[in-house]
This record gives sequence, C-alpha cells and structure tokens, in this order.
Amino acid sequence: MNALVFSNMSVWVAAASAACVWGLPKAHQRWMLSRAKHRSLAGHSKMAKKLARQLPAVSYSLDEFCACDDATAAVQARRKQALASLRERYAARYALTREATTALADSLPDLRFTGRYRVPMQFTDVMREHARMGAVMRASEDVYLDDLDGNRFIDLTGSYGVNVFGIDFYKATLEQAQQRAHALGPVLGSYHPAVPDVVQRLRALSGMDAVSFHMSGTEAVMQAVRVARYHTGRSHIVRFCGAYHGWWDDVQPGIGNPMPPREVYTLQEMSERTLSVLRSRRDIACVLVNPLQALHPNQNAPADSALLDSCRHAGFDRAAYTAWLKALRAVCSERGIVLIFDEVFLGFRLAKGGAQAYFDVRADLVTYGKTLGGGLPVGVVCGRADLMTRYRPERPADICFARGTFNAHPYVMCAMQVFLERLDEADITAYYEEADARWAARAGRFNAAMAGAGLPVRAVAMQSIWTLTYTQPSRFNWLYQFYVRLHGVALSWIGTGRLIFSLSFTQAHFDEVVTRFVEAGLEMQKAGWWLSSDATAVGLVDNKQIRRRVLRELIRARLG
Ligand SMILES: Cc1ncc(COP(=O)(O)O)c(C=O)c1O
Repeated sequence: MNALVFSNMSVWVAAASAACVWGLPKAHQRWMLSRAKHRSLAGHSKMAKKLARQLPAVSYSLDEFCACDDATAAVQARRKQALASLRERYAARYALTREATTALADSLPDLRFTGRYRVPMQFTDVMREHARMGAVMRASEDVYLDDLDGNRFIDLTGSYGVNVFGIDFYKATLEQAQQRAHALGPVLGSYHPAVPDVVQRLRALSGMDAVSFHMSGTEAVMQAVRVARYHTGRSHIVRFCGAYHGWWDDVQPGIGNPMPPREVYTLQEMSERTLSVLRSRRDIACVLVNPLQALHPNQNAPADSALLDSCRHAGFDRAAYTAWLKALRAVCSERGIVLIFDEVFLGFRLAKGGAQAYFDVRADLVTYGKTLGGGLPVGVVCGRADLMTRYRPERPADICFARGTFNAHPYVMCAMQVFLERLDEADITAYYEEADARWAARAGRFNAAMAGAGLPVRAVAMQSIWTLTYTQPSRFNWLYQFYVRLHGVALSWIGTGRLIFSLSFTQAHFDEVVTRFVEAGLEMQKAGWWLSSDATAVGLVDNKQIRRRVLRELIRARLG
C-alpha cells in the first residue's frame, strides 16, 4: 500500500518537475498564480461571486434578533427595552431628516442600497424598523454636520476621504475658486490660465513629468491602466486582494460587479509568491497599489455589514509596508511592469508628497482625486512622460484615446489651484510634520479611555484614518454605530470600520469624540449587547461558535 502511494507520489513529482522543465510552463504558471492568491474569499473573485449568488436571505424577527447569541431571558428582555428606546429616540430626534430621506428613497436606488447594507443582513429589517438613519444634512461648520432637525454631529464621515483639512478650508477654497474662474466661466475645450500653474505644482509634488485631468478617481484609474496597457502591449492588471480602486469593471472583479473577472489577477499583498508571479509572467502590464491597504492588507474595506463577529483586525506597520513597496518597485523595474500608486484616497493626507513621499518609493504613474479637487469632483493621473503619451509618431493610427467633456473644467482647475497653493502655507506644513505623532497619541488616548471604561472597543490608526476593532466576541458590534449616532457622531454608511478625521480636529474636538464614544459604548453595554462583559450572561462567547451558528442558519435557509 505504502509502496503504491509512494510510487504514485513519485509520478506526480516527476510530472510536476517535467512540467517546469520541459514545457508545461502554462500549468506551472497557473500553479504559481494559485499560490499567490490570498486564501480568503476576497482573493478568489470567481468563487466569491458564485457563492454570493447562492447566499440566501436571512432576516431575524425581533425575538430571534435578541436571542441570536443565546443570551439569557433577562438579557433578551433588556435588549428589547433598549430597542424600544432606540425606536422612540430615533423617531423623535430625527423626524424631519428621516422623512426627507424616506421621500427620496423610492427614486434614489443608491440610498436604498446604503440603507440596506449598513448592518449584517440578519439584522437589517429590525434595525430599519427601529433605528432608520437619515441621510440628508442641512449644513456644516468646523467639524460639525447639522441635520434637518437641528441635531449637530461631529463629522467622522470625512466626506469619503475628501475632507483632509476641515470643511471650512474647502468652503473657503471654493469661494476663491469661484471668483478666479468666473471671468472665463464654464467654457470647455480651451484651458483656464490657472492650468499651467496647477500642472507645475502637480509635477513638483508627484515628481512626475506629465499630468492628465479626469472627472473622478475611477476615471483616473481607468486612464492609468489604459496607458499602461498601451505602452507595454500587455493585457493583464495585477491588483491586490481587498483593495478598492473605484467601480470600473476591470479593477473590481468580485462581488458587486456582474461581469466575470477579465484580464485581472487578484493577488496577495505583502507576499513573496506575488513577487514570483510578477517575475515569471509576460502578460502583466501594471500593478495597482492602494496604499490605504497598509492599514489592513488583503482585507476588504472594513464595513459594519460584514461585522458578524469580532474577527475584524487591522494594524499599520509602516516599516513592513515600505519594505514591501520597495520590493514591488524592484520587481516592476526588472520586468518592465508599470507600477501605479492609486492615491485617490490617501494622496495629500499622509504627507504633502503623498504616499510616494511617505513610504519613500517612486511609482511610474500616480492617481489622485477626492481632496485635490478642493471640494469639487476630480481625478488626476501624474506619470512619466513616455507612459503618459497617447500616440506614436511613427504609427499615427495606433493611439490611446482618452478625453472627457468636463476634463480640466475651469472651476475645478481653480479650486485645485487654490488647494495646491494652500498646501504651502505654514499651518499645513506644520500639520504634516506633527501628524504621525499627533494621531498616534490620540489613538492611544482613545484606547486608554475605552479600556478605562471597560469597553471592548479599540482603534487602529493610520494617522487620521481609523478602524475600530472589538476585543471580545459579539454578534452585535455593528450596533455601536447606532449608539454613536445618538451620542452625536456621524459615521459614513460603512460604520465603525472607517473613521475619517480632518486636520481641523483640535484637542478639544478630539476630547469630545472620546467622551461621546465612551458614553455610547457604556449605553450599549448596559443594554446587554456585549455579552461577556455581563457577569450573569451565558451564550455564544467565542467567534468560532458565532460563525458556526451563522453558517448553520444560512444552510438551513438555503435548504428552505
Ligand atoms: C483608492 C481609490 N481609488 C479610486 C477610487 C474611486 O474614486 P471615485 O469615487 O472618485 O470614482 C476611490 C474611491 O473611494 C479610492 O479610494
């Protein structure tokens, strides 16, 4: 028997070696690709999509909701009371804002989508009945947002990352831009006189030769990939597991995109196996890096809708990520692969020179967007002169076409110019110098306050971008966002996975944030949502048990 197994193994080993040496390079390359995929579902786009299609809907009744972790009857009763209280307070406090949101929902599918995907699906219906959040705001000032009911929230939505320097900074930028642009007005096709200065400034900051203007971050990424394919003559993009690069088909190959993955490899970030794939293949045009992933490599954006247990983890290791980027840079240079830094989110946040400066690694192309528009929509590509050229003089019909009606819109160009000018001001320079130390200290203070209050919540920071993690197993961590809201803090629809601060947060503002999060946490704890902090509670108190329970419920629902 053993001899048979052994001889079979020898055949396989011999075949595999022959495949490598004698000409089954395709099989070998496929094997290398498989090894370089991250083992999670996010690393397997096709499989994730197939499974997603099979996932049945599960929706808890109020009783099931409160009992889903086998809490005692007493705890369940407390939870029901807490939900009734949430219902009453949400209805009273946010009446006008909710009314306006509801009126919009039928005709704004986007709103219906974000409304549904705030929390894990099992809890959606009960939460929508008890604590529907409004999505209409009336005004902003300093670090605050005001809703239609006169409630004032500390803004940690960060306008999807646009708000780096404080909302008043962008208001002032837009006012100045409006004055500068007015003489020419919305004339398109020619360029506003601000453009040469904007181009010069962008070249200096990015260290690149040339610039192109687009209308969103998604478009900037599309253009960067397009020129990379054009100049290398190769088809494939390498992107990393979990990284977001906008909603264009080719860079979003998994769940959420109805098309199957095309000419894209989703590989593991910070992995030697990925470097081996880059070294061995000839079809790779470019590698896309979103440096925000340094906060949670190989994981999707940490949305509360996926917070089924307390397994969310994050950790920013600047030295390790720098080493990874340098290794990637070396392989890309060796293999003629275009290295694209997608700084749409992080550009101008970590450092004036963006992630390139912060990690001390030069890309071949860099995309920017969000904050660079000074409050207006924009996408920008900066790159090496040879890569940015869109034609070949010796082959006049072989062009790389990319133009858009609103590219280089005068108002956007003026807002960008004001934004870039202000980067040179002393207060902003000082901010960049202190940012690492300041935000590390603030995260430390937040965590000390949480620990001091006996709350199972911790922050992990990449400067002013934070993720909240949970230190004890629970099925209800996602509920924290609803308590945080009641205590006057606005988070984006993905919830506690992404807190975005702006530099305008003074120490006093920050202290207020800590106080509100602690108060919200204490209320949530008192209501019995965090089990293991309750000495009398029994129930599912281990992440594995929770996941098994969720899986069992899904299988049961799938089998009808
Ligand atoms: C890294 C990155 N790239 C691209 C995009 C897409 O930008 P936009 O939403 O402006 O299309 C985003 C948006 O969040 C992003 O974070």
